[in-house]
Amino acid sequence: MREITPQQAKYQSECTARVKKLNLSRESAPRACVVTYGCQQNESDSEKLRGMLCEMGYLISDDPKTSDVVIFNTCAVRENAELKVFGNVGALKHAKRKNPDMIIGVCGCMMQQPHISETIKSKYNHVDIVFGPHALYRLPEILERALKKNRVFEVENSDGEIAEGIPVLREPPPLAKVPIMYGCNNFCTYCIVPYVRGRERSRKAADILAEVRSSAEQGYKEVMLLGQNVNSFGNPVNSDENISFPQLLRMVCKTDGIERVRFMTSHPKDLSDELIYAIAEEDKICKQLHLPIQSGSDKVLRDMNRGYTAERYMERLDRVRELIPDITVTSDIIVGFPTETNEDFEDTLDIIRRARYDMVFSFIYSKRVGTPAAKMNPFLTDEEIHRNFDRLLEVQNEISKRKNDEYVGRVEEILVEGESKTNPEYMCGRTSGGKTVNFKGGVELVSKLVPVKIIKAQTWSLTGELCD
Ligand code: 5AD
Ligand code: SF4
Repeated sequence: MREITPQQAKYQSECTARVKKLNLSRESAPRACVVTYGCQQNESDSEKLRGMLCEMGYLISDDPKTSDVVIFNTCAVRENAELKVFGNVGALKHAKRKNPDMIIGVCGCMMQQPHISETIKSKYNHVDIVFGPHALYRLPEILERALKKNRVFEVENSDGEIAEGIPVLREPPPLAKVPIMYGCNNFCTYCIVPYVRGRERSRKAADILAEVRSSAEQGYKEVMLLGQNVNSFGNPVNSDENISFPQLLRMVCKTDGIERVRFMTSHPKDLSDELIYAIAEEDKICKQLHLPIQSGSDKVLRDMNRGYTAERYMERLDRVRELIPDITVTSDIIVGFPTETNEDFEDTLDIIRRARYDMVFSFIYSKRVGTPAAKMNPFLTDEEIHRNFDRLLEVQNEISKRKNDEYVGRVEEILVEGESKTNPEYMCGRTSGGKTVNFKGGVELVSKLVPVKIIKAQTWSLTGELCD
């Protein structure tokens, strides 16, 4: 795969040095804040933005209003996320009036859609910087231009290069997010991702392994390998190397210090037996699979261009459970795809009853400009769609609760992540299957694997007691 040129990399480090010098000459260090919307991939991109800002001499803050540089890293998957971005960017107008030197940037998937970047350009005059995911590594150059009072727009289309060696400022241990590939080639008809993130490209295994090793050296215990469709990692269309995803997983498992390996997302059409064996055989691979079905109706699946039928999906899921009986399985479902009828929706309810997912992330279909589904006429009314959505939640919540009930009395190994958000006396961690467990304990347990007896089950989480 094409990597950025050494000249580009050199130019970015020169810009970094110049901005840093400027910042060092100020009385006190300037502050920068990165606000993230959307998926884990975006979280990972934000860690790179923070890494670059830190190298340029900024202190990282989480308060946009008092920061000197604010960057909104946006998501384009659904409209409600976009509306939130417009609202939050608009709300900073006041802060910028008070501090005219404040630099406001908007980046990420939303900006790669021309109608959005045009709106920002013409109606949000207080925004100084706009750039898409392809230009992420050029932040030093973009920021330097903005500091010289230029308005910068970098949203040209590109199939994307891979930029290695960008500094990363991660969340503190134990979890490290490591992207293994970028982009998507699947073109599900509802989805904007292939248009904004470009074609699939895999990172080199050696670069991924080096990042995993360095995370382990910094005290990280779990890595989450990220890609829109990890099962096509190493495919000849997106890679020069002949290494499959299951092979990569087994290599990552050999890293000393890394105790757990997770990954997402798997596309059901590409789920191989080779991958199922790897999950079953490697102790470090978490017994969790996120396998989005999207719909239970074959007609809708065809219209979505998903490349499988409900039966084929269930055959794969049965195979997974045959080899890994205790595995946690989660899914994504879209309610109200344009061609979906109430009968199709019943098929979806049937499939979630059969699949007995531990958890489902359900979304109401959101029309995305430029995708094939945007041209399809909606069959159901908004009211019917919302009613179906509520029914799905009801059916799934009952299944989730029952599945969680099965854990009561068991002892699970928990990787402790930090304090519980709701009660500081409680710590929070996850089972190998990815279930959240809250239990009484102290911060000295963070980053440790501890045995916890589950004493109570809720719909979304479990409560436990630390074992001696
Ligand atoms: N509308 C609603 N949900 C969507 N997703 C992707 N595109 C859309 C859309 N246009 C959902 C899919 C995907 C998840 C990340 O977001 O379920 O798996
Ligand atoms: Fe979107 Fe489908 Fe690619 Fe997932 S696999 S990012 S849903 S196009």
